Amino acid sequence: MSFVVTIDGPSAAGKSTVAREVAARLGFLYVDTGALYRALALKLQRQGGSPDQQDAVERMLEGTLLDLSGAPDQPHVWLDGEDVSGQIRTPEVSELSSRLAVIPAVRQRLVQFQRSLRERGPLVGEGRDLGTVVFPDAEVKIYLDADALTRARRRTHEFEQRGLPVALEQVQAEIERRDERDRTRADSPLRAAGGAIIIESSGRDVETVVQEVLRAVLAGPGCPPMMPRSQDATLGPPLGPGGRPGSDRAD
Ligand code: DC
Repeated sequence: MSFVVTIDGPSAAGKSTVAREVAARLGFLYVDTGALYRALALKLQRQGGSPDQQDAVERMLEGTLLDLSGAPDQPHVWLDGEDVSGQIRTPEVSELSSRLAVIPAVRQRLVQFQRSLRERGPLVGEGRDLGTVVFPDAEVKIYLDADALTRARRRTHEFEQRGLPVALEQVQAEIERRDERDRTRADSPLRAAGGAIIIESSGRDVETVVQEVLRAVLAGPGCPPMMPRSQDATLGPPLGPGGRPGSDRAD
């Protein structure tokens, strides 16, 4: 089984930035599990469905093909053969993905797919339940946290950079609502895994946090040798319509 680093934590704690950088420097695959929940949420949104209609959600899952591809600095998520990477970062999809994530059938399907990614090579995965549920035997587990205001500021800045002006207070309220749902759901709630290294990122720059994670990875036994940046790992070529063999059909 390939070497796995898990990075869990609440929204906008800096997981993506840190996980991508660590994956790129180690030459590992970068696995953004939130993107899978978001892609499913986008499908539900397009269909005009609701997460409250669990039967309909389960039917939707049966006909859904998901995949991840790309190097850590350019990850892509595929929904039924379409690259939806540019469409999953809206506030509506964020809210819908958090509501879908409480449904055990949804989690089961996505966890199954996430585990299969380990066959593609050593990876750095980020999400909410990677150290607790998806990869309980991961070689290195990190729990990355930051205070609510820091996280809201980061998310607001991201939206502004994408030309979507939003009020800080509104972003903070949305983040806190989603985090509360993610922490209190019955199935796979957000929490630090046993043995996880807890890193608080408020007031710290990315490089310091990346170095702390890299030290933990390189100190552990069994870490594959670091690969030069030019060989950054990629999860495979982008999918064309219809997917490719080995992609996940969530049925
Ligand atoms: O990391 P993110 O904000 O892109 O994730 C979107 C939602 O997906 C998040 O509110 C909770 C859910 N999620 C989850 O339940 N488990 C994961 N491993 C990843 C994301």
